[in-house]
Amino acid sequence: MKKTFGILFASAALAVASFDANAQAPADIPADMNALMQKYTCIACHRPNQRLVGPAYADVAKKKYSTDEIVKLIYTPVPSHWPGYPPMAPMTQVPKEDATKLAVWINSLDDSPKTTTKKTTKTTTKKTKKSA
Ligand code: HEC
Repeated sequence: MKKTFGILFASAALAVASFDANAQAPADIPADMNALMQKYTCIACHRPNQRLVGPAYADVAKKKYSTDEIVKLIYTPVPSHWPGYPPMAPMTQVPKEDATKLAVWINSLDDSPKTTTKKTTKTTTKKTKKSA
């Protein structure tokens, strides 16, 4: 009995929490990634297509890191990668599983062909449409 109540309560709380989070989600952040961005406060400093305190994730994606490299950089930032930005604090509280999800998503934001390291002309304007 008690256990069922606890589970119901937890999922109701979760539904409310994700509803709130989604209400604030910028149009270019998928709901699941927005939830992680909120939970670990990345959202305070990062957007997919816009420089905030930190670089736009689309610009991070252009550096062609591997998923593992990004996970490592979340735990141990290298501020010299981003001259002109303040240093990011190490985000060691993010579990590896969630850091990996964020890393995969960040890498998916590079709109150049996935193949190898071919340099093509990049256009990053198409996703930045404002839908207020
Ligand atoms: C307080 C602001 C702040 C928060 C919170 C923050 N970042 Fe950053 N992030 C930065 C800044 C500033 C940089 C660029 C300077 C640097 O890398 O130290 C950066 C750089 C990065 C980079 C690029 C690393 C590189 O070396 O190219 C990634 C990836 C990144 N952040 C992911 C995240 C993720 C994921 C989170 C949430 C778990 C997060 N950041 C939270 C400010 C922040």
